[in-house]
Amino acid sequence: MIPIDLLTAIKARRSIHNFKHDEIDHATLREILTYGSYAPTHYMKEPWQIKLYEKGGKQNFVDAIIASYQRIGMLKTSDDDKTQKMIGSMKQFLLQIPHHALIYFKEETDHVRYEEEYAAVCAFIQNAQLAAWAYGIGMLWTITPYMHDKGFAEEIGLDSSSDKIAAVMQIGYPEKIPRDKGRTPIGDKLEFISE
Ligand SMILES: Cc1cc2nc3c(=O)[nH]c(=O)nc-3n(C[C@H](O)[C@H](O)[C@H](O)COP(=O)(O)O)c2cc1C
Repeated sequence: MIPIDLLTAIKARRSIHNFKHDEIDHATLREILTYGSYAPTHYMKEPWQIKLYEKGGKQNFVDAIIASYQRIGMLKTSDDDKTQKMIGSMKQFLLQIPHHALIYFKEETDHVRYEEEYAAVCAFIQNAQLAAWAYGIGMLWTITPYMHDKGFAEEIGLDSSSDKIAAVMQIGYPEKIPRDKGRTPIGDKLEFISE
């Protein structure tokens, strides 16, 4: 049941910032992530690992994000009204997103291997985003400071010395689809070298 073709999806897909409250069923999420897993992957390492937070499972994840922001100084720890309001609205914002897929991989110490793993994980993410779009589902690829906080990684059960968080994908049915900002003509970036 793919309503749109691949080339249309590549251009039509937008990053989604506003989601409907409806949840996506597990079979569809598995399907989308399966398309993700057809990404190219050197040595067939398939380095991607996914923790998919949803329903009540979002609570501890969101609490860990808030705690991380406080640890790294992006949010105050005080009990004053302003801080508590800010924390409350941040929690509410994150909790109303139907699904959060945290994508991580085992960090390679060899620089070349590391790049190979990260590149494959990014290809996985983009494949999944495109497949999701074909199913009428939106995503937002996010990279935020808590992903670099070892305390956060430990709090969600990762090994901060060997697990690298690549991204968190916010997932749901789009409430609003942003306009197409277009792209720079490829001719501005492309150089044919024929001799
Ligand atoms: C690696 C990566 C990280 C991103 N991180 C964020 C983010 O943290 N917050 C955000 O709003 N958008 C993020 N984006 C989405 C971009 O802002 C978005 O792709 C860009 O504005 C183009 O819009 P489009 O995806 O709708 O074409 C990220 C995209 C990539 C590829």
